[in-house]
Amino acid sequence: MPKPGKTKFQIDLRRHLREHYVNENLTHLICEIAEASKYIIHSISTGDLGVAGTSNLYGEQQLELDVLADRIMRKRLDHSRVVANMMSEEMDEIIPVSPDCDGKYSVAFDPLDGSSLVDVNLAVGTIVSIFEGCDLLQPGRRQVAAVYILYGPRTTLVYSVGKGVHEFGMNMLREYTLLQENIMIKPQGNLYSPGGQRNLYTPGVEAFVTKLEKRGVKLRYSGGFVPDINQILLKGQGIFFYPHLQNMPEGKLRLLFELSPMAYLIEQAGGAASDGRKPILDLLPTQIHERSPVFIGCKKDVAMAEEMIRKFENDKESGVNKNS
Ligand code: F6P
Ligand code: MN
Repeated sequence: MPKPGKTKFQIDLRRHLREHYVNENLTHLICEIAEASKYIIHSISTGDLGVAGTSNLYGEQQLELDVLADRIMRKRLDHSRVVANMMSEEMDEIIPVSPDCDGKYSVAFDPLDGSSLVDVNLAVGTIVSIFEGCDLLQPGRRQVAAVYILYGPRTTLVYSVGKGVHEFGMNMLREYTLLQENIMIKPQGNLYSPGGQRNLYTPGVEAFVTKLEKRGVKLRYSGGFVPDINQILLKGQGIFFYPHLQNMPEGKLRLLFELSPMAYLIEQAGGAASDGRKPILDLLPTQIHERSPVFIGCKKDVAMAEEMIRKFENDKESGVNKNS
């Protein structure tokens, strides 16, 4: 019998999924992702920090660790027997795993987000988006689960299957045990994580940031999307944004591998995620490697970003001078 008061810390991931009536295949899939992360954390701790000599579709130089983490995830998903199609930030196209979609899942993942931070020993993560059946090009709202694993001073896993957001920590036996259930974030916060160069912000985004700063919000930007989102979730407040820039109208972050799964988790925690006009989860991807601007975190802060962007767009259309 577990000791009274300690029960919470003894619930492992599989048991938690079962207790939340998650079906067998999805439970198996999430547990396989958790297994893969054990090999990824080992590679991060001990692996070569060099470049692989290849680049991904976005022209970003791949590190050996990117390639390794990708291989670990692919192998695990391939052997899981519950995956129909898979796709990663490091691949050029969708990899078909099984032609039979019944009872199976399609998975989009970023195997090692923020990998360029490993050599300076900052936190990085793995992000996973899960759809039922074969189709990966669907609005994020159709996800049936999203997961991220954060490799920081400690390794943690956060998941949702649409029944709240839950955090697990990797213990000394490399098992994930429950740390927190039903994580929620406040409607408004006092932290902000602004991505991109400020001198390239559009007037609407600039006005939004100025308004936030006047409110006295504190800067918290690590350069890694997973730790930045994790901070918002666990501190229960804040907003992360990587906006459309004057020279990058689509922003930087990728819809399928990064934004949809994080938006799913943040909405589950009572927050919001927008591209500046509409919810990230309502965007229909037209291609696999699509990017989008993002404003994600506390609901009211995201609404304020949308309001300022709309205001400056309307002013521009009607020719109003913003200083008048
Ligand atoms: O994969 C994208 C990423 O590395 C994210 O983890 C992070 O939020 C963002 O890029 C950082 O971009 P920048 O280096 O432009 O701040
Ligand atoms: Mn990434």
